[in-house]
Amino acid sequence: MSPAVSPARCRAFTGCEPSPPAPCPAPPSPPGAVLTLDADAAAHRAALTERLLADDALHDPVWERALARVPRHAFVPEFQRREGGRWRTVTPDSPDYLSGVYADLPLTTQLTDGTPTSSSSQPSLMVMMLEALDLHDGSRVLEVATGTGYNAALLCERLGSDRVTTVEVDPGLADLARARLAALGHTPTVVTGDGRAGHRAGAPYDALIATCGFQRIPAAWPEQLRPGGVIVCPIGWGNARLVVAEGGRAEGRFLPMGSYFMSVREAGSTGSVPVPEPPDEHSDDPPDQRPAVLGPAGPFGDDSFDFLLSVAVPGIRFSAEQSPGQAVSACLAWRADGSWARVEQGTVRQAGPVRLWDAVEAAHDCYTAHSRPGRRRFGLTVGPDQQRVWLDTPNGPSWPL
Ligand SMILES: C[S@@+](CC[C@H](N)C(=O)[O-])C[C@H]1O[C@@H](n2cnc3c(N)ncnc32)[C@H](O)[C@@H]1O
Repeated sequence: MSPAVSPARCRAFTGCEPSPPAPCPAPPSPPGAVLTLDADAAAHRAALTERLLADDALHDPVWERALARVPRHAFVPEFQRREGGRWRTVTPDSPDYLSGVYADLPLTTQLTDGTPTSSSSQPSLMVMMLEALDLHDGSRVLEVATGTGYNAALLCERLGSDRVTTVEVDPGLADLARARLAALGHTPTVVTGDGRAGHRAGAPYDALIATCGFQRIPAAWPEQLRPGGVIVCPIGWGNARLVVAEGGRAEGRFLPMGSYFMSVREAGSTGSVPVPEPPDEHSDDPPDQRPAVLGPAGPFGDDSFDFLLSVAVPGIRFSAEQSPGQAVSACLAWRADGSWARVEQGTVRQAGPVRLWDAVEAAHDCYTAHSRPGRRRFGLTVGPDQQRVWLDTPNGPSWPL
């Protein structure tokens, strides 16, 4: 039997974000025309904007104008494409550069020891998050995770540079983004630092958008927004949209689209986010054993359940074993704390500080009992001492973060 990681979980391992739709068709070049990169890019950009409108991903004319004006290629002078198990650098000399830059896909823009550590997010996901911020002329916004600077440029185009602050933990990336933004005439405040602390000097903000993945809302954020301000932040494999109240509180629901952002990392770090290794199942700690209620295929192939697991059992990893064309025959689940579970032939063996399969089965019971809820039915309440994801209402079933 050959071990295989399920495609749904590969996103967790690569740090890449969304489920890729088909690339945009490249607009035809006029016969015989010699086009500059910028002119050619404008045609690709227009095609991307049309595509997002046609896909019902883009609704607000102010963001349509911003997307049509800001050149993504100026922020992504090259990107990394995974082909046949290897990374290939795609540069402006590559025939697939412009069609790649203006596809509705995330683009890996930095690798550290072979692991993605920065990217330009999928445009349809970016637009969903930007529209959810509910910005108005004069709004002041804090972006956490500058990355390439492309999202910051869209914000500057919408609000003006003096209304935009963006924080990036990686000094090299912050410098590059600052320079690329300036080359296009945008001069937001680009802060090199840990976005979890926000940027108190620029507070209060009307909105905060985070574009790296979190397991909970950092305490500094609600305090730096005015009451009524909006936070849009990836939590688990979803995006929470919260409205801020007094006293460090915030509450709201999850947006409908899935999101698989690379995790937030420590200040000063340029290294990759460590992914826990699969466990040593033959260690001295003898596992518990019991009949499995949920079979080994249970965690795979259902995006909504995937999201629930990402908040109910944070940090869990899975791999499936299956022969080509066959059903999943075994599943291994594990976490950085050393907990693991193996499900095979109707039995689950579990060891470590948390009985992971118990938690997966409890989440699955709740999921099926509530008619397999999608992200929209979940919400998040943030208080000074506690954060809880809930189903349907703040008094419904809930999971502490
Ligand atoms: C998906 S990229 C951001 C995309 C970006 N908004 C853009 O338009 O290109 C994620 C970024 O989060 C940054 N990051 C990770 N941890 C961070 C932290 N603690 N504070 C600020 N940025 C962080 C990474 O260095 C990476 O550049």
